[in-house]
Amino acid sequence: HSSPDTLSFKHANEAHHFIAKQLSAELQSPRLGIICGSGLGGLAETVLSNPRHEIPYSAIPHFPLSSVHGHAGKLVIGVLRPDESPVVFMVGRIHYYEGHSFQSLTFPVRVLKLLGVDTLLITNAAGGLNPRYSIGDFVLLKDHLNLAGLAGNHPLRGPNLEDFGVRFPALSDAYDLHLRRRAHEVWRQVDRHSDSRQLHEGTYAFVGGPSYETRAECRMLRNLGADLVGMSTVPEIIVARHCGIRVLALSLVTNNAVLEPGLRGDDTSIKDLGREDLTRAIATGKANHEEVLKSGEEAAKDLQSLLNALMVIIKTE
Ligand code: 6GU
Repeated sequence: HSSPDTLSFKHANEAHHFIAKQLSAELQSPRLGIICGSGLGGLAETVLSNPRHEIPYSAIPHFPLSSVHGHAGKLVIGVLRPDESPVVFMVGRIHYYEGHSFQSLTFPVRVLKLLGVDTLLITNAAGGLNPRYSIGDFVLLKDHLNLAGLAGNHPLRGPNLEDFGVRFPALSDAYDLHLRRRAHEVWRQVDRHSDSRQLHEGTYAFVGGPSYETRAECRMLRNLGADLVGMSTVPEIIVARHCGIRVLALSLVTNNAVLEPGLRGDDTSIKDLGREDLTRAIATGKANHEEVLKSGEEAAKDLQSLLNALMVIIKTE
């Protein structure tokens, strides 16, 4: 017979020991973890001073492999100035749409916990549903809608691993208030490339992907209270909260999920649109991966400044 409990505490321990025995003394027990979203893997290179150590996911026992962009992902462990405290980056995240179960794609979070991580910064690219958001803005997550989880597909489904946390964890305090306040303070202080870029707070709707949402799905998510929609982050946050890790999550708005004003209302008919409106609706009313990657590149520098300053503050307090 088969058990749903495929990845146990023992597996996480094996991965943990595999990693820990490769690390030099000054890289042991990182307390800060960072999961880098699309286009943000460069962060690890810019903020870490040597020595640093890289471990491909493919080498670590039981780690899931990412198929995006042809590289499977890696852990980068290094020290952060000014106090040289160790931090661990996950460069290359695993998405549900690649075919992993929630249990296996969140396994690395539990390994980070065993390594010593107590604070996790998570970045992602997301579509904006709140009409006040512009492309290139940043959003601190303050809450989420886990549609898959509500419907029964949840990363904590199955036997509870008591070594990590309780059977019925609360998520009402998932988005750490202290860290969010710090992020706002830092945002006011850092040099930014774009003066118009704003930092919001919002609710993130997690969807499985990989297709982008239809217009009706965007309207539904907006009506449910979502400000953003994306295909990552929420499973990791749930598993991190289960084992008591503090979480700060930051989205980059890479495109507008809510579409053309002319078509925003659900009762607008094609026959009411002039030729110009129609051309505009066709041109703009479509999410695409290139657009997502492009805004990621441009905003990456500002996001790096923010995270860099934030990491230093978090580590020194
Ligand atoms: Cl519009 N939707 C989803 N699901 N994920 C995204 C996105 C949109 N834009 C960036 N990531």
